[in-house]
Amino acid sequence: MTGDGKHKPIISQPDFLKESFVPSPIMRRENQLAEIKSALIPFVRMTRPTHIWITGPSGSGKTLMARHTMNFMGERHNVSTLYINCWEHCSLHSIMDKIMRDLRMLGAEKISTVFKLECFTRYLDKNFATLVLDEIDQLMPKDRNLILYNLCDMNKLSLVCISSSRNCFFTLDDRIRSRLNPKLIEVPYYTTEDLRHILRQRAEASLFPEAWDDSVIEKISALSRGDARVAIRTLWNAAVFAQNENCLEIKPLHLDKAWVSAKTIKKSVVLSALTIHHRLIHQIVAENAESGILSRPIWQLYLERCKRKKLQPVASRTFSLYLKQLMTKGLVRWERAAIKGNVRILRPAGNGNGNGFY
Ligand SMILES: Nc1ncnc2c1ncn2[C@@H]1O[C@H](COP(=O)(O)OP(=O)(O)O)[C@@H](O)[C@H]1O
Ligand SMILES: [Mg+2]
Repeated sequence: MTGDGKHKPIISQPDFLKESFVPSPIMRRENQLAEIKSALIPFVRMTRPTHIWITGPSGSGKTLMARHTMNFMGERHNVSTLYINCWEHCSLHSIMDKIMRDLRMLGAEKISTVFKLECFTRYLDKNFATLVLDEIDQLMPKDRNLILYNLCDMNKLSLVCISSSRNCFFTLDDRIRSRLNPKLIEVPYYTTEDLRHILRQRAEASLFPEAWDDSVIEKISALSRGDARVAIRTLWNAAVFAQNENCLEIKPLHLDKAWVSAKTIKKSVVLSALTIHHRLIHQIVAENAESGILSRPIWQLYLERCKRKKLQPVASRTFSLYLKQLMTKGLVRWERAAIKGNVRILRPAGNGNGNGFY
């Protein structure tokens, strides 16, 4: 109890448990970070820009490493840094628009992508830049090739591409792959020992010292199966449960509650990061879990749902991309329907029906 009779809270710095927080130092990725930096720095010394391609499973620190590298290049080497999440910006047009706006360039409101590419080229005559293309595997192959074709030969521009699978790099158009010729950085799952260090650093920064002990770290590290996102989310959940119950410390009961299952936590994180359209599509699939739903009716249902919600529907091509993204994220699966022809039936994947996430 505190002097005023109220229980002491558990969480002292909630911001340090947020996904976007960039801790310092970044532990257990020292080798990969050194490799990335040594590849990017020479380009500042007037050699041809080097590009990087980072691959690795979810929660292995890819985005965090990119963010850290951006800070390093910006602060130490005075390089302009740009971050694009390809979930949100899935065409060359949209990416160039974001670049123009982030660099506060005149003419950002103009529609022509060619005009924007020319402006960016002129900007790069005088400035070095590092551009992160995160989740590049979420693009349609045609868009991915077009975007890289236009950006990979720009003077003074280094690209940092991030994908969860290596396959995405190896299925690029041959000419683009050889022109890009990136340094490949593969990041593995964290070991339980790695997660112990990462979690301890977070707990020290964000929780009151009396609120946790090593048994909390030990248990979460062992359960999280190499995924730092799941580990940190579980710590956050457990801390919130303990705080809401006015407890002085995180107890095994809170950990059990927080640990619904790694899969559910993962799904909630993935779903909460999607666009409203992805969530609508997932919701429709989840509502039809028992019978499954064919791909044609789902498009009709999606249009109806958009009308009801007064939402502008996406084009059918984008709809197909979103459906594919839900499949690669493990949220929706398909099976061949027991009728003639190449008809697919869609169902929610695993145990996730998405309840509570909308
Ligand atoms: N080495 C690390 N040290 C501290 N936090 C980490 C580390 N690796 C990952 N995290 C944290 O785990 C979460 C997921 O990491 P992220 O880089 O987004 O994973 P990925 O992009 O590979 O899916 C983020 O909150 C991030 O800050
Ligand atoms: Mg990421």
